[in-house]
Amino acid sequence: MSGMRKSAILITGANGEVGHGLIERLSEESSDPIVALDLMEIEPELKKRCAASYAGSIVDRALMERIVSEYRVREIYHLAALLSTRAEFTPDTAHDVNVTGTLDLLRLARDQGSWAAESVKFLFPSSIAVFGLPDLETKRAAGSVKEWEWTAPMTMYGCNKLYCEQLGRYYANHYRQLAEEPSEYNVDFRCLRYPGLISATTLPQGGTSDYAPEMIHAAASRKPYACFVREDTVIPFMAMPDAIDAILSLARADVGHLKRRVYNVTSFSATAGDIRDRVAAHFPHAEITFAPDEKRQRIVDSWPSDVDDSWARSDWDWDAKHDIDATFNGYLFPVIEKKYAGA
Ligand SMILES: NC(=O)c1ccc[n+]([C@@H]2O[C@H](COP(=O)([O-])OP(=O)(O)OC[C@H]3O[C@@H](n4cnc5c(N)ncnc54)[C@H](O)[C@@H]3O)[C@@H](O)[C@H]2O)c1
Repeated sequence: MSGMRKSAILITGANGEVGHGLIERLSEESSDPIVALDLMEIEPELKKRCAASYAGSIVDRALMERIVSEYRVREIYHLAALLSTRAEFTPDTAHDVNVTGTLDLLRLARDQGSWAAESVKFLFPSSIAVFGLPDLETKRAAGSVKEWEWTAPMTMYGCNKLYCEQLGRYYANHYRQLAEEPSEYNVDFRCLRYPGLISATTLPQGGTSDYAPEMIHAAASRKPYACFVREDTVIPFMAMPDAIDAILSLARADVGHLKRRVYNVTSFSATAGDIRDRVAAHFPHAEITFAPDEKRQRIVDSWPSDVDDSWARSDWDWDAKHDIDATFNGYLFPVIEKKYAGA
């Protein structure tokens, strides 16, 4: 039967910020049809680029079965998640979506792989939220952290991501290791930990690094903005085009070169004050103030100021094209100005 189904790339959370960029690039660069899934109806512009799109939840098993009855899924970009701020308000739902939903997809990948006698690639964006530094002094002393350091997250989202990284590694390297006939086509799980992402075209919702993009979009649309963290708050960031490059490079890397299943990636680290300065220099009318929210501040303070991405650099030639100057002057400002020009 499997031969009759069309092969496809499945993207979950397709209507989100990363999904937008990913669908644009994949639809131009890959010949495989894209099947998009999101809780919300996929935007018409994106829909045109997909072979099919489904509005529904990854935890809806009947829906997932319908998808695999129609498509042979060869590759999965599992982007659907409840982000860090939102997850803190509804931790039970977050666990259902972020953990149970991911486990269901790993099982789906396993089944698709064994039917087709070909490992299914499973791309999973994790986050710097998997880290948890206990206090600012430790954060300062830690500097750039390696993949295995300080993995004691203080948010439900961080716990969920960290556990799913481990599950993915298990399904890739150790699945049914004691069985008489261990399966030959384990899930080809590949994960990167994104820093805070900044897009010029979409606005983030429900993340705790959202202050950076919110500040920029507010200034561009001439709205005042009160930043919810202190001016000296520092975490790593990345421009959205680099985030898309990163996930596609990892997907295309020769599996033999991958010495890990989970990689840190970053572009630049900046304080909220650095970002304010750049935005204010470019938009003289910008009204940016700092009104730290103690609780959200504590979460951002538990994230590292920088991550060591040397494993990604050496295993799959990771290198961000946009440093901080290129991110602001070459990407954000020109694209955002065009976006708000009509408004
Ligand atoms: N944006 C960032 O700064 C950032 C940083 C680190 C990691 N990530 C990760 O990257 C991935 C994509 O993030 P994003 O920035 O595009 O987030 P986003 O919130 O813009 O997109 C997530 C999408 O998932 C969808 N979704 C939520 N629950 C769902 C469910 N049950 N079933 C189907 N779809 C569901 C949402 O409707 C949304 O469109 C996420 O896994 C996120 O954890 C993002």
